[in-house]
Amino acid sequence: MKILSARSVSGTIGLPGDKSISHRAAMLSAIADGTSNIHNFAASEDCSSTLDCLSALGVNIELNGTAVLVHGVGLGGLKEPTNPLDCGNSGTTMRLISGILAGQPFSSTLIGDESLSKRPMKRIIGPLSEMGASIESVDGHAPLIINGRGALRPIEYTLPVASAQIKSCVLLAGLWADGETSVIEPVPTRDHTERMLRGFGVDVTVRDLDKGKRVSVSGGSRLTACDMTVPSDISSAAFFVVAAACLKGSRIVMPNVGINPTRTGLFEVLRRLGADTALSDKREQAGELVATVEVVGRGLGAVAQAEAIIDGPVVANMIDEVPILAVFGTQIESGLEIRGAGELRVKESDRIHSIVENLRRMNANVTEYDDGFRVERSHLKGAEIDSFGDHRIAMAFTIAGLFATGETTILGAESAAVSFPDFFETLQSVTVR
Ligand code: S3P
Repeated sequence: MKILSARSVSGTIGLPGDKSISHRAAMLSAIADGTSNIHNFAASEDCSSTLDCLSALGVNIELNGTAVLVHGVGLGGLKEPTNPLDCGNSGTTMRLISGILAGQPFSSTLIGDESLSKRPMKRIIGPLSEMGASIESVDGHAPLIINGRGALRPIEYTLPVASAQIKSCVLLAGLWADGETSVIEPVPTRDHTERMLRGFGVDVTVRDLDKGKRVSVSGGSRLTACDMTVPSDISSAAFFVVAAACLKGSRIVMPNVGINPTRTGLFEVLRRLGADTALSDKREQAGELVATVEVVGRGLGAVAQAEAIIDGPVVANMIDEVPILAVFGTQIESGLEIRGAGELRVKESDRIHSIVENLRRMNANVTEYDDGFRVERSHLKGAEIDSFGDHRIAMAFTIAGLFATGETTILGAESAAVSFPDFFETLQSVTVR
């Protein structure tokens, strides 16, 4: 894919449904009693992986564009799959479905692509084993063989890393445990699972602790089918937010974007760094807050260096947006430093390495740390970009290409389809040259 510099971006954009919420909508609908109707389901490779796994577990799913009808089988209705369940590139599919499969009376095998097979799974094998599940892995990596033995033991589990996937895995497994299962999260992570479980009628209790929260579910809680419209994905919006903020004269409007407070770290940081972003028409949809996001490119003023150091709990709140924030950092006078983001090393690629390597290729001045990086304001030059097969790297550096002189080539651009199959067409439709 070839990218040329742009003068501005302008227009109204419809974005795909939120990937995190779509995974959960499909999984909870599958184990609910009755038929659920999901609208604006994320048309993405990752969420297709989830649908395929659920179908292979005997769930009848009708897909019509972005509308999905899931005929739930209830807590006891999943069937033993005849083949390994392929989670593709999707960590959310593998980690959340493991929670569901751990409590089944049958065995199943989970496989993934090359990237997913390198990602750490001990983080879910640990708590699920404590609950009595028996899971075989290749030194903590997929393929995972989950030897289902039926009912699990309830546990109270404190998250060792800030991860909504681990939290969700344990809470889902808790539905098949004999008693109350709790997850303590010292640092808040996205709470889509808790919200959606409530939407399906499950009593989820959340207690504030001195440090963090304790989230609990009771084993055997039945889910009742429901209809919902998935909010548009804030993580997909992020690419257009940064493009518009950095290109003077831009104006981008994105309706129905999910603005769950556990996902809006990007907006906090961008506002602090001088971007003109506004949220209007705020309302609730499918138990989630949504709004129209508007970003106007007015030129970015100077801010104090200290403002441009991002560290602490806000990082978990914008973990998927760090690649595009790095690109933003090249456009602001203060540069940008992100620390406390070691989790990025175990995403779809080692994102710290992917970011640093590609920024350097584009002539940016970058320092790499174990847990983050610092990038200075830089005059970007078109270059050959390696997406490392990572959708968010491909899309972030496409936006960098709009800011660069000369031509940028994105190798592995097709990986964008993991979360946003129409990304390049959408960008093309708003680009002003
Ligand atoms: C996700 C949680 C985050 C995020 C991922 C989606 C989820 O991962 O990076 O893209 O849907 O729960 P971790 O739980 O590993 O932080």
